[in-house]
Amino acid sequence: MTLALSFLGPARPYLIQYVLDVPLSAGDVAGVRFWIVVMIILTVLQTLVNYLQISWSHKLGESVVDDLRRQAFNHIVRLRPQFFDKTPVGALQTRVVSDIETLNALFSEGFISIFGELLQLLTLLVLMFYTDFRLTLVALIPIPLLVLATYVFKVKVNAAFQRVRKAVAELNTFLQEHITGMSVVQIFNQEKREYDKFEKINARHRDAHLDTVFYYSVFFPVVEVIAALSTAALVWYGSGAVLEGYTTFGTLVAFIMYLTMFFRPIRMLADRFNTLQLGLVSGERIFNVLDTHEFICDGEIEDFRPLCPKIEFRDVRFAYVAGQEVLKGVSFVVEPGTTTAFVGATGSGKSTVVNLLMRFYEFSEGQILIDGMDIRKIKLEKLRGAMGLVLQDVFLFSGTILDNVTLFNDGIDEGRVKRAAELIGADAFIERLPGGYRFEVGERGANLSTGQRQILAFMRVLVYNPKILLLDEATANIDSESEAMIQNAIAVALNGRTSMVVAHRLSTIQKADQILVMRRGEIVESGNHQSLLALDGHYKKLYRLQYATA
Ligand SMILES: Nc1ncnc2c1ncn2[C@@H]1O[C@H](COP(=O)(O)OP(=O)(O)OP(=O)(O)O)[C@@H](O)[C@H]1O
Ligand SMILES: [Mg+2]
Repeated sequence: MTLALSFLGPARPYLIQYVLDVPLSAGDVAGVRFWIVVMIILTVLQTLVNYLQISWSHKLGESVVDDLRRQAFNHIVRLRPQFFDKTPVGALQTRVVSDIETLNALFSEGFISIFGELLQLLTLLVLMFYTDFRLTLVALIPIPLLVLATYVFKVKVNAAFQRVRKAVAELNTFLQEHITGMSVVQIFNQEKREYDKFEKINARHRDAHLDTVFYYSVFFPVVEVIAALSTAALVWYGSGAVLEGYTTFGTLVAFIMYLTMFFRPIRMLADRFNTLQLGLVSGERIFNVLDTHEFICDGEIEDFRPLCPKIEFRDVRFAYVAGQEVLKGVSFVVEPGTTTAFVGATGSGKSTVVNLLMRFYEFSEGQILIDGMDIRKIKLEKLRGAMGLVLQDVFLFSGTILDNVTLFNDGIDEGRVKRAAELIGADAFIERLPGGYRFEVGERGANLSTGQRQILAFMRVLVYNPKILLLDEATANIDSESEAMIQNAIAVALNGRTSMVVAHRLSTIQKADQILVMRRGEIVESGNHQSLLALDGHYKKLYRLQYATA
């Protein structure tokens, strides 16, 4: 369609020239009518082709956007946590939303249009030279000026657009972070300071945008002037030529039309090249994400369905940041069906032990075995499928309670969710909520209390029925009603499972079969509640500091 268009456009002036010079000057009225009908048909055809060209090229662009967004999401969803530790959410959001949008323009009006417009320019030039090379040369006198103006414009506006895009990414990152952390901003009365920061980013965005507007508003009039100069040269020289008989009146009229056609794409082309360049920059950024192969190395063993597994850590060493070891040779065994509690000061590496077992992070030395199998050899899907995790801070998605417990899995029926709720004694609280199991929890579960969110996490575990339970108890205090419910939930969830619990509650600790005391990435004491108290070491100190009053 683009090809057809670049020939159809210049055809009209050509025909007009013919009509003026041949049938009209010969007084052939029938001939003039015939050619007018031909031109009408051509125009209708051109309109149709134009419609198809626009709608198909945009369809192409949209399909690219759709494909890439899906690919990008599918890729991001599999990246390891380490990638997210160092990549701002807002930046990723910009990649997936606006950068990919820019690529749309690259396909819908970039490549194809540039190609079409260049072709049309070429067609016009060939036609003009073929019709009258002297007129053509005169008309093209101001062209070097145009090339210069276009070049300057392209360079300037492109730099400004780069700044716009950078500012957009900054805006996204800033907004995302501040809306998420709004309560911190407000409680520390940081509104004014954060507002000032936001104002600066916004000002950068505005200024960069205004720069682009400035270049456009200078460039377009300049092109107009050059086009006018060109036409003036043409009319001046052409009238003389017509009067002296070098050329025909029809040719002169056709040339004026050619020139209009000639300048329109040039004005557009400068813009198109920007689209192209912006698209390439965006493309590069998107592919940077797509080419990030920060995956957790998957294992091959598919056949992993432990009934009551034994977990073993053998001298595991690990550092989040190279050189700063967080686990310094951790070894322990969790016997099948028992509960091991981890206690210790904040930052001692308790959550890290859990992260490693889930294979959220790759450890550098040592081994982690489940039923004697190296967890690195087990397929991630199977490994994680065997585990249930209740984290320190429970993440809920916007949706109903039911959605969040089943994790939007339609294969799990409501009855199972209700049984899980009854088992841990959460049914009463859920039924009191407006809508019961269909209560909308809000983004991140904002409509629920911390304790209630934890309860939902326990229900997830019961519904999915994993053989290994990992529990990172919330350090935050929760209200006493939830507390009783959670204690019950923990007891039910631990029952019959091999469990590792990062424990802050005395009740959980006392019931554990084994307690490991962590300190600066090492296990310094182990035993049960009584034997550790008798040992009179770190545990006793910890106990006295934190739990004695309880
Ligand atoms: N994603 C991460 N990237 C880099 N360092 C981390 C990361 N997560 C934790 N750390 C570091 O690892 C150390 C151990 O953290 P960990 O979360 O295991 O502590 P914890 O024992 O669970 O503490 P708490 O009782 O407060 O939950 C800390 O010093 C922390 O700074
Ligand atoms: Mg922790």
